[in-house]
Amino acid sequence: MSDQAQELRKLRERLSSVLYSQSNRQPFKNKLSISFAGGKGGTGKTVLSVNVALSFAKNGIKTVLLDADVGLANANIILGIKPKKNWADFLYNNAPFEDILYFYNSNFILIPGASGISDAANLPSYKQEELLVSLDILESQTDILIIDVGAGIQDNIINFSIASNNIVVVTNPDPTALTDAYSFIKIISNRLSVVHKIYLVINMARSFDEVKRIYEVFIPMVKSRLNVNLEILGSISYSEEMVLSVKQSKPLLINYPRSGASRQIEIISNKLLENLYSQNRIQSILPKSHFNKPDEFEASRKEGSKSGLDITKSDSFVSRFCKFFGIKK
Ligand SMILES: Nc1ncnc2c1ncn2[C@@H]1O[C@H](COP(=O)(O)OP(=O)(O)OP(=O)(O)O)[C@@H](O)[C@H]1O
Ligand SMILES: [Mg+2]
Repeated sequence: MSDQAQELRKLRERLSSVLYSQSNRQPFKNKLSISFAGGKGGTGKTVLSVNVALSFAKNGIKTVLLDADVGLANANIILGIKPKKNWADFLYNNAPFEDILYFYNSNFILIPGASGISDAANLPSYKQEELLVSLDILESQTDILIIDVGAGIQDNIINFSIASNNIVVVTNPDPTALTDAYSFIKIISNRLSVVHKIYLVINMARSFDEVKRIYEVFIPMVKSRLNVNLEILGSISYSEEMVLSVKQSKPLLINYPRSGASRQIEIISNKLLENLYSQNRIQSILPKSHFNKPDEFEASRKEGSKSGLDITKSDSFVSRFCKFFGIKK
């Protein structure tokens, strides 16, 4: 065995043991990834990624949050973590991959961001291998990978968004944010060959009317003009508790678990899980009783399998990442 192959085998073993030591069951069989994205800055992608990850973790789902915002990586700040190492240390300073995994709790791992991941295609080949092996192990030993994508429509942002097999577009009700969300959806739908389901979250809503207008005007317009299957996951009100939580570097779900915004985020997380579940993806661990409305669940499950969304191995984040970033495996 060559030196490099041996190194990679050792890397696999080390990572597996770090992840396995925190687990008491097998991970989901299918590979699930969700990116929180959207064209405009400051709409709440990061607070949502962090709090949804916390909600999943609370439900016993082993969740990894990858901070892929190469402009302003700040998921760690929202979580109150001061990471000693981040992506850049792994990519450029030879830090072992396990050193950039932060166990917020036994079910929630953060990979702190830094600029650099978008240049993955330009890395030396041994580093690319290490990156792919590490991501592959991470994906196969955990349940859900959440990607917090930065704002904008640059190539690397679009690539990160479509590397996941589920995309959540986060907007707020302002016309500028909706215009950016529209452009973003248009770009990603042009990049994806099959009609993809795209989820929408309306954040910082200040009135019911604002949300109603989006349902009545924005959604029909997107559906009629762009060939996408858009589903609203829910809305989150403008919340002083959220503002305070960010200032205090404590995630909302922990700081104010009973606030209206926390409840709305829990509803969104559960709906997301229900959707993934209905697509036959995570039946392995969640009991049907987890869901509030079993009948609806059955109906949507049938819908899910009809739409051909069942996951295949090629749907893994790693293979999509390679495909969209032009990395040869
Ligand atoms: N529901 C909410 N109510 C009140 N304030 C909110 C809410 N959601 C987010 N915010 C505020 O918006 C700010 C930006 O949120 P966040 O950093 O999650 O946005 P983002 O979309 O990730 O931004 P970027 O595009 O720069 O990555 C937060 O600091 C927070 O104060
Ligand atoms: Mg952000």
